[in-house]
Amino acid sequence: AQDPVRHLFRAGNQDLAPILLLHGTGGDETELIGLAELVAPDHPVLAIRGRVNENGMNRYFNRFALGDFDLESLEEESTWLLAEIRRLAAHYQLDLTKMIVMGYSNGANIGLHIYMSRSTDFAGVVGLHAMQLTSVTDDLQNLTGQRVFLSFGEHDQIVSENNFNQLKENLERSGCQLTIFQNAGGHHLTQAEVNAVKEWFDTTT
Ligand code: MLT
Repeated sequence: AQDPVRHLFRAGNQDLAPILLLHGTGGDETELIGLAELVAPDHPVLAIRGRVNENGMNRYFNRFALGDFDLESLEEESTWLLAEIRRLAAHYQLDLTKMIVMGYSNGANIGLHIYMSRSTDFAGVVGLHAMQLTSVTDDLQNLTGQRVFLSFGEHDQIVSENNFNQLKENLERSGCQLTIFQNAGGHHLTQAEVNAVKEWFDTTT
């Protein structure tokens, strides 16, 4: 039977840290492949498509409006996604304890949500133009020694500075080693940002 979860796998060099790719709203499992090739060539890559459909656009959880998130859907889809990551990692023999999650926008949001609020074995997260989705309280994980890269554009129409600062503070509280790339851009990726992600991969994996 065909696997109902839309995903893509590139074997790469099995000695390198596997990368999990999570796309932005309207993207799919191919969206960040080119980026992965630039910043972490030869690493094994697994990309999973979000199963929520918003007017024909793939997402990882529902929202009622821009910035107004369906938190029930977020929890349900986080459970689904984490189970699928574990299932596919076992299938492709990927070491979860070495896995780096790299997400853009909606994908960065669910990736960081899972990483910060649930017990996972991931080695780190690259959250590109991510935001804080919930008020993180008791379930904040202890991420001491873990590595997180965040990017933020000061003119982002979706992620406010206040929201980004909340995300940053929560990650600082978790104890992780945080690297931040900030510039005067918007919600899109920039060349300088891609270079910074590459440097992060070169020095941390
Ligand atoms: C979200 O819904 O996760 C954020 O607004 C980012 C996005 O639009 O994908």
